[in-house]
Amino acid sequence: MTEEKQVTWGGRFTEGPSELMKWFGESVSFDWRLAPFDVAGSKAHSAMLAKVGLLSEEERAAIHAGLDEIMEEIDDGSFEWNADLEDVHMNLEQALLVKTPAASKLHAGRSRNDQVATDMRLFFKDACVKLGEALEVVMKALLAQAKKHAADPVPGYTHLQRAQPVTIGHHLLAHLEAFGRDRVRLGETFDHANVCPLGSGAIAGSTLPLDREFVARELGFVDENAEPRLTANGMDAVADRDLFLEFAGACATCGLHVSRLAEDLILWNSTEFGFVELPDAFTTGSSLMPQKKNPDALELLRGKTGRLVGNLQTLYVAVKGLPLTYNRDLQEDKPPVFDSYDHLGMGLAVLAGVIDGLAFNLDRCREAASDPLLLATDLADYLVERGVPFREAHHAVGEMVSVAEAEKASLPDLTDEQAGSICSELGDDWREVFDLERAFSRREKPGMPGASEVLKQIDRWERMLVQP
Ligand code: ARG
Repeated sequence: MTEEKQVTWGGRFTEGPSELMKWFGESVSFDWRLAPFDVAGSKAHSAMLAKVGLLSEEERAAIHAGLDEIMEEIDDGSFEWNADLEDVHMNLEQALLVKTPAASKLHAGRSRNDQVATDMRLFFKDACVKLGEALEVVMKALLAQAKKHAADPVPGYTHLQRAQPVTIGHHLLAHLEAFGRDRVRLGETFDHANVCPLGSGAIAGSTLPLDREFVARELGFVDENAEPRLTANGMDAVADRDLFLEFAGACATCGLHVSRLAEDLILWNSTEFGFVELPDAFTTGSSLMPQKKNPDALELLRGKTGRLVGNLQTLYVAVKGLPLTYNRDLQEDKPPVFDSYDHLGMGLAVLAGVIDGLAFNLDRCREAASDPLLLATDLADYLVERGVPFREAHHAVGEMVSVAEAEKASLPDLTDEQAGSICSELGDDWREVFDLERAFSRREKPGMPGASEVLKQIDRWERMLVQP
C-alpha cells in the first residue's frame, strides 16, 4: 500500500511514511504548546526576509495577519492539530499556507533545527519568569509567617534529635534562603536562554542575506544596552541542550527545597510533634479512619520531587554521546522540561496555600524548646567564658548530663555539690544559662536565631521581595 507523500519534505520520496511511523514520530501532541513562541519566531523571520528584500511588504503583511488568525484559533480551541504533519512547526506552516500563498516563502533561510532551538529559548525565558513569580508568592508567605513568629521558640534538630532551641522565624527563614537561591538560579537560566539561535539554519546558516541582529532584536534577545545577543556557532546552536539541563536542574533543586520544607511541616504536624496545624483546604481525610486529617498536599509535593529529579536524569541520558548536531533523539527533550515546569508551578501554588494557612501551637513549641538539655552547649560556653578549655567544658557538661540521666532528673536539678564535684569552675549562677530568653539574647549576631537578628533578616527579605 502506498502512503501519501509528506507535504513539507516529501519531494525526494516515492512513498510517504507508514501510519506507524507517523504515530511514532509525531511530537505535535506535546510541542503544540510552543505555538505562541513559534508564531513570534515566524513573524520576526518574515519581517527580516521582507527587510532584506526576499518578501514583498504585502507578503509579509499577509503572513503576519495569517499567523495572528492562527494564534486566535489556537487560543479559542478551534485550531485542528494534525499529527500527520509531525510537529508544531509544520502544522503552523501548513495552516498558514491555507491562508496565504506567501507562506511557501516563509521557510527560506530557516530550518526546524534553529526554529525549535529558538522556540525553546523563548519558552525558557517565559517559564523562568513565571516560575520566579510563583516562587515569590511562596517566599512572601514564608516571610509573613516568619515575621509573625520571629521570637517564638521551637527546637531545632540535627539527626532528627532535638539539638538547640531556635525561633520559628529562624527556621522558616532557613527555607526562605534556599528558595532565594532558586530564584537566582532561575534568573541565571533566563539570562543564558537570552541568546538568539535563529539564522543558524540546519547547521551551516544560509547563503541568503539574513539579518540575524534584526531577528534577535525583534524577539527580545538583547542585552541591557538593547544590543542583540546571537549564538556564535551554528552547529552548537542546534545541538546544544545545556539550557534544558539547566532549567530542569533549577526545577529539580527547587523541588528538592520544596520537599524538605514539606517534610519539616509533615513532622511538625504529626501528633508526636504537634507544633503546627495544617489548613483543612490542603489536607484530606481517610476513607476508613474518621479521625484522620492527612497532610496529602505536602506528601504529594515531596513525591513530585522524584519526577523533577527523574526529568533531569532523562535529559542527561538522552543527550549523552550524541554526535553533533541535531539527531531526532532530541525531540525527546521537550516532555521532561514541560513536565518539570507544570508540576513545579502547580506545586509552588499549593505550597503557598499551605504556608498561608499554617497555625502554630506556640505552647507546644515553647514547651519542647524549653528542655534544659537543649542548652547544654550554652553551659559549656559559660565555662569557656570562665577560662575552661572548650574540650574540658564539653566533657564536664557531658558528665553532668550522665549523672542527671542516671537520677532521672533534668540538668539544672543537680545539686551544687554534685555539679561542683564534676567541675569546680561552675559559679553559683550556672543555672541561669537554662533561661531561654538569655539563650536567644546571646544569639543576635548575623545568621543567628535571636529575634532581633531574625527581624533584621526579615527586613532584608522584605526589601528584596515586597518592595520591588
Ligand atoms: N519536532 C522536531 C524536534 O522537536 C523539530 C526539529 C526537527 N528537525 C529535523 N531535522 N527532523 O526535535
